[in-house]
Amino acid sequence: MNKPSQVTQPLKRVHLPIASANGLPNTCYTSRGSFERDRDTVIAPSWSCIGFGSDVPTNWAVPVELMDLPLLITRDKENQIRVFHNVCSHRGMQLVTEAGKLGTGLIRCKYHSWTYDFKGDLKGTPMIGGTDNNEHKDFDPKVNGLREIPSTLWMDNIYINLSGDAEPFEEFINPLMQRWSKWITPESLQELKPAATCGKLELLVKCNWKLAIENFLEAYHLPWVHPGLNTYSPLSEHYDIDPGDNFAGQGSNSYTSPAGFDGSISTWPTEQKRFAEYPVLYPNSLLGLQADHFFTMTILPLNETESLERVQLMFLGEVATSDKYESHRQSVLDAWREVFSEDIFAVEGMQKGRRSPAYEGGVFSPVMDQQTHHFHQWVARRIAPDSVPE
Ligand code: FES
Ligand SMILES: [Fe+2]
Repeated sequence: MNKPSQVTQPLKRVHLPIASANGLPNTCYTSRGSFERDRDTVIAPSWSCIGFGSDVPTNWAVPVELMDLPLLITRDKENQIRVFHNVCSHRGMQLVTEAGKLGTGLIRCKYHSWTYDFKGDLKGTPMIGGTDNNEHKDFDPKVNGLREIPSTLWMDNIYINLSGDAEPFEEFINPLMQRWSKWITPESLQELKPAATCGKLELLVKCNWKLAIENFLEAYHLPWVHPGLNTYSPLSEHYDIDPGDNFAGQGSNSYTSPAGFDGSISTWPTEQKRFAEYPVLYPNSLLGLQADHFFTMTILPLNETESLERVQLMFLGEVATSDKYESHRQSVLDAWREVFSEDIFAVEGMQKGRRSPAYEGGVFSPVMDQQTHHFHQWVARRIAPDSVPE
């Protein structure tokens, strides 16, 4: 990893006024050290999304990786989701390797058969005291359970705070909820349910995770990258969202449902139903709120040059669950697939460009790139707090 002084110097330019600022330097997108630094300074202290509640049925344990860290998501019979470090307390074996139902309610390590329950408590330590003894007077199972990570479920997204010292999730999400209070309430948002079928898609993109975020933050590229979308939701009808501490993005006032409107969230004023907003909830949740549906695209950083985009759609009532609405869900999913696929060449092209020594962060349009600049500053502040001018 770079020494702090090498890191800080170019990041100072990120904090200049937008017309003279540069973006994050190439190494932030290309080096292994930067990837690990992002994990430890950007992803870990935040509320980062690792997947969807719908990935984890009741009584299941699902292993996931976040930037090389083995994690485990469980859902017990009371529907409580928990996230643990996926490592056995004994000799450090990766505990669960495949998603599956835990019929016994216990997670068993395949090495020496220690078992843990859904709360992570260590329940069984066979032969720990010799071949005829499953206990030992000097071993306390109570302090050797799995290490739990603070987690919460919001809009069926599983958020974790790896470092354990972020503000409570309610405080983190509150500014965005305040912004959206003209359309929704926390209660009316509950009307949206994950699509039972035709609601998920995944795209593997060959770019650093931050480029996927940055591309979503701006609408500037719309006329050239999304000519179809630009005919019914043109750039001129998009606007910048006033950035909050933990989000930024854009909105549109000419949203049209790709499958035709089939209901609206009950609190959404009818005369505003063509408004839609697309913020990034930093660091890695790209959100789309429309009167008739919601989506999340979670960006999972795989390594410094590859990321997985996972999308889940949510709809209202029967539109989410009934077979009758399957073609409706499919049309919405297809429309988003088309838009998100159109972006791939752009984010991959930016990644390729970052191998060039002729580019060191680039420049911003003082008008069209304000959101991207906001994200760069947010990242730079986390990587190197001393890069921020006094
Ligand atoms: S490493 Fe898991 S029981 Fe020994
Ligand atoms: Fe785009």
